[in-house]
Amino acid sequence: MQIHETAFIVSTYRSYHEDISKDIYAKLWNNPDTDALIPEILTTVSKHEAILHSLRNRFFYEEIRGFFKANNGGTLINFGSGFSMYQFSFDSSIATIEIDKKDIIDYKKDKIDHWTKEHKLPQRDIQYTAIDFNQNSIQQIIAILSPMIKKKPIFILIEGVFFFLDRKTTNKLFTVFKELQNPGDMVGCVTYLPDVEQTEVYKRLLHYFDSHNDTNDSFSHQTIPHSYFSKIEGYTLKEHTDEFELSKIYTTDTNINSKKEILNETMYILERH
Ligand SMILES: C[S@@+](CC[C@H](N)C(=O)[O-])C[C@H]1O[C@@H](n2cnc3c(N)ncnc32)[C@H](O)[C@@H]1O
Repeated sequence: MQIHETAFIVSTYRSYHEDISKDIYAKLWNNPDTDALIPEILTTVSKHEAILHSLRNRFFYEEIRGFFKANNGGTLINFGSGFSMYQFSFDSSIATIEIDKKDIIDYKKDKIDHWTKEHKLPQRDIQYTAIDFNQNSIQQIIAILSPMIKKKPIFILIEGVFFFLDRKTTNKLFTVFKELQNPGDMVGCVTYLPDVEQTEVYKRLLHYFDSHNDTNDSFSHQTIPHSYFSKIEGYTLKEHTDEFELSKIYTTDTNINSKKEILNETMYILERH
């Protein structure tokens, strides 16, 4: 399993439940290689994965939309953006900066430009930059991003990424966020809490990654405790929820009875103070 494959997989999950995810453009990324990977994950890890990722998308869709509506636009900076398509569902007052590894960014820019020319996507103000969060320093990342920010306020999204990073890189990114943002700006992020490590479903996830190990692409399996998010320098914890709670709001027939039976991720909204 390579990291870019995880970006295709979560995008495909969103396309299965457009009514929940609100991502009507995710299906543009669907492809036979990813379609071939998904059945094994749903049967050997958890059948709820597609709906959970759609719920996660819905949460951030509502949060980002609300933030930019209240502020008449601004800039969405998406760290580890993968094949996220939020900007096409919002109006054109929102500028977007997409950050990911070079192979993903090059591929995404090429495809988006092509689909925009074909009028499959609306025209949006999007800039792309390739950054590896493990390899670039705080100063390098700030030097790349600062000149790209033309509109304020800033909503930073880092969704489905912390799992693949270690704590040192996570701390580094929060220092970058603090430098880039001003009071009132927001960060939206996602993590597994350490409790998840005890569940059978999480053990099945790690086993799936281990048994599909790709030597070219190593990544961590980070979980982060709740207390981390209430102590980040420069930020106030505004809101948090998890996919189990979201399932009660946005779905009626998932048959999810307990948090322990799903890969339950927790979403955080932090405000720069
Ligand atoms: C599971 S995907 C999530 C993509 C997107 N945020 C979403 O929710 O659909 C994880 C993304 O993080 C990116 N990523 C992981 N480690 C990274 C690193 N060290 N530097 C930059 N991007 C990274 C991957 O390339 C991938 O696009």
